[in-house]
Amino acid sequence: MKLPFGIERLDEALGGGLDRNTTNLITGRSGIGKTILASHWAAEGARNGESVVYISTTLGRRSCESYLGKMKFMEGVYDKINWRFIRIEAKYLLPLTPEKIEQSTISAIRMKPDEVDRIVFDTITDMDKALHDPVLYRNALRYLSRLCYKNDITALFVEEAPMKGEWSETKNIAEAVIFLDLLRVPDGYARGIRILKKYRTAHPLHFMPFEITDNGIDVKRGRFVRKDYEYVFKE
Ligand SMILES: Nc1ncnc2c1ncn2[C@@H]1O[C@H](COP(=O)(O)OP(=O)(O)OP(=O)(O)O)[C@@H](O)[C@H]1O
Ligand SMILES: [Mg+2]
Repeated sequence: MKLPFGIERLDEALGGGLDRNTTNLITGRSGIGKTILASHWAAEGARNGESVVYISTTLGRRSCESYLGKMKFMEGVYDKINWRFIRIEAKYLLPLTPEKIEQSTISAIRMKPDEVDRIVFDTITDMDKALHDPVLYRNALRYLSRLCYKNDITALFVEEAPMKGEWSETKNIAEAVIFLDLLRVPDGYARGIRILKKYRTAHPLHFMPFEITDNGIDVKRGRFVRKDYEYVFKE
């Protein structure tokens, strides 16, 4: 079973949407459109009558209402999403055990986990920052994704990709990774969306152009290809 975003070209590229009961990731630099993309997925779930939880560590209730709540794709579904505004602190995570992660997550979602269909964690980078240790962070992600798996929840993590340096562990545990980036084009910059991986699916490898409007993310026709490339196939 697939859980779509409600964004036609993206869903098509993903083979219908995210796979049910998997852990997935949206990654990209600050301001590129991660939160809007994740909220499309939340809205589409609510539109389909699923039970959706959106955990935001960056927005507050009022800013979320005046930001995401005003987007056209949220019409009629904003109030159906279970928005949770939290701040992550190390004391909610340490000492790190599966039980501790389970307890903290359940108290954040304020619902029985087995009643949740879709969950968004925006951003999981705040858990990384709170733990301040790559091994602890990797374990926390594993416990979190196990909790989702156990309860038949499909999870979407949002993460800020570093401008330079190592990428975090999150992409390794995710079954699908969607990367948003700002691409240098002849007359300036353009937004591009690319599927870095998706298990069980033959997906396109190129960047698809996208724009953000009052109606959210609009994935355009066509593709971005590099002007010069390193490999050419020859028979
Ligand atoms: N109504 C709108 N019309 C056009 N563009 C918009 C609109 N609202 C937001 N944007 C664009 O979307 C960007 C922010 O998108 P979003 O909040 O999804 O980013 P993000 O990747 O989650 O960023 P952050 O790292 O700050 O969380 C803005 O910087 C702006 O370029
Ligand atoms: Mg955001």
